[in-house]
Amino acid sequence: MAIRNIVKVGDPILNKKSRKVEKFDERLWLLLDDMKETMYSAGGVGLAAVQVGVLRRAVVLDCGTPDMSDYLELINPEIISKEGEQREMEGCLSLPGESGTTVRPAVVKIKCQDRNGKWCVYKAQGLKARCFCHEIDHLDGVLFTSKVIKEDIQ
Ligand code: NI
Repeated sequence: MAIRNIVKVGDPILNKKSRKVEKFDERLWLLLDDMKETMYSAGGVGLAAVQVGVLRRAVVLDCGTPDMSDYLELINPEIISKEGEQREMEGCLSLPGESGTTVRPAVVKIKCQDRNGKWCVYKAQGLKARCFCHEIDHLDGVLFTSKVIKEDIQ
């Protein structure tokens, strides 16, 4: 595994739409392993492949606690339902030092594939629901700053 460079705002790749993952092979597994290591080393809760310069629909996230990890890999994720709303502060490893309040669904249900191509469904609320939405936005070239309703002073 290796830590990869995180692409920062200003790089036009962050505004591009990522392509579907079609091959569930060793190259994908290496990418996911590197993304996992990169996310943890940067202290983030989520990372999309585009943030390490790879335009594929792959995400790693961990909205757990230091005591209890909740590591997940989402390949080709799609939101299948959302309920309610939450207004919370958000940030992004590609926009260091920036944060703002966004409106996100309170509860989100997604379907996605795992690293072997098997389809799964996850339902989340709170931070994890925000994280699902934030990372899926990355796959469509959307940054959280386009959804900020209030700048938060740090
Ligand atoms: Ni982000």
